[in-house]
Amino acid sequence: LFQPERENSRGWDLTAVDALAEFDAGRAAFRDTKWRSEPILATEEAPEGGETIPVTNPADPSDVVGEVMMASEADVETAIAHARRWQAPASTRGAALRKAADLFEENAHEFFALTAREAGKTPKDAVAELREAVDFLRYYAARGEELKDPARGTFACISPWNFPLAIFTGQVAAALAAGNAVLAKPAEATPLTAALGVRLLHEAGVPRDALQLLPGAGKVVGAAITSDPRIAGVCFTGSTETAIGIDRAMAANMDPTAPLIAETGGLNAMIVDSTALPEQAVRDIVASAFQSAGQRCSALRMLYLQEDIAEHFLEMLKGAAEEMGIGDPWKHSTDVGPVIDARAEKGIVEHIEKARAEGRLMWQLGTPETGFYVGPALIRLNGIEELEREIFGPVLHVATFKAGEIDEVIDAVNATGYGLTFGLHTRIDERVEQVTRRVHVGNLYVNRNQIGAIVGSQPFGGEGLSGTGPKAGGPRYVARFTEPMRIASPA
Ligand code: SER
Repeated sequence: LFQPERENSRGWDLTAVDALAEFDAGRAAFRDTKWRSEPILATEEAPEGGETIPVTNPADPSDVVGEVMMASEADVETAIAHARRWQAPASTRGAALRKAADLFEENAHEFFALTAREAGKTPKDAVAELREAVDFLRYYAARGEELKDPARGTFACISPWNFPLAIFTGQVAAALAAGNAVLAKPAEATPLTAALGVRLLHEAGVPRDALQLLPGAGKVVGAAITSDPRIAGVCFTGSTETAIGIDRAMAANMDPTAPLIAETGGLNAMIVDSTALPEQAVRDIVASAFQSAGQRCSALRMLYLQEDIAEHFLEMLKGAAEEMGIGDPWKHSTDVGPVIDARAEKGIVEHIEKARAEGRLMWQLGTPETGFYVGPALIRLNGIEELEREIFGPVLHVATFKAGEIDEVIDAVNATGYGLTFGLHTRIDERVEQVTRRVHVGNLYVNRNQIGAIVGSQPFGGEGLSGTGPKAGGPRYVARFTEPMRIASPA
């Protein structure tokens, strides 16, 4: 759909030889860079700071990517006290956010290197990550300019490590586009990418009192900024459990009208029926389950195959999955990079080993020895009800269903309480209608993969345990950061 008011980033075509050479030469300059993150406050004085700790590469923990000085409790207090709404006209705010988008693109090579080394992003993922951040900046700039409602005040934006640039930028840009002040708390694993983003946003003209960075622990920084009555709202992406904790802290301490905008987890399923095109379905399953090492909230976790095609289809799927390259995310031949840290690796490996002990592990790829790698795996289940939790890694669970059981499958998926993405591969139009009517999800993908929503075209976000709405990258998102209703009283 052509939308003249907005253009998505052109990105980098890594299939073109010239673009590839430029990509490699550009990021090579940052192969050994040491970055630094610290509290970036609105005051002239240096932050007090807490502990300073090294940030290492999940693909090679001996590669020190930089260091982070955590925010102290005093830094958090300073940030809250100095936060000021961004009073400039919406057009000025929009212009600064667009300028930031341009600066992000100008510094693309640094981001490609940094997200590879800090977060294990493969070239393809690093490009997608930057494109999405740039798209959020431009799209929310335009949406902010359309709004008349006033800002709410100071927003706490708490972002995840799996999209250290895209989701970090999306939250911050939306809150700023509406004219709020932002206290940004990046994930503990990825403070360096966030710091580069904030420096470029300031360089583009975002005032320092409208955007402050508070790297640090969830228990210190996160807890403080989600339970302070001076905070007007919280934007959070991460686990459902953490979102529930934030909701309770806000209810106990903050204005009862303060919004929580949360995007959380999913137990995402896909149905492949006997009319699906097998080659296409296999390609889309491999991407949905294993790209980004399965570390996307949208990723496919539970595949339902129609019984009559299951055996042949699984052979094809294993064959395609065998071809994946797992290893150093810096290399172009890598499809699956590391998981984020040792704790993530341990949790996923325990899940796989339990399945192996129970005789349900159908296939697994080997891994390099150093680095936090988990070999992509296929695990047999009877149905999604046996999946106790979201396994945030390259693990795909598989069950079969019989013709006529589609409604039962969808009811089981709905019964999990999550509702983020759902995939359907079929060539029967009535089946698309049947599934569309019955399934409770935010994003339904038909005959394609189920990851990588595009800003502006595919507003992204779930229902139930998967999030509070509104959808990121959609027309209503920025409005949630404003005060749509005002209370009048005698002067
Ligand atoms: N927005 C991402 C996607 O669509 C998920 O976090 O894959």
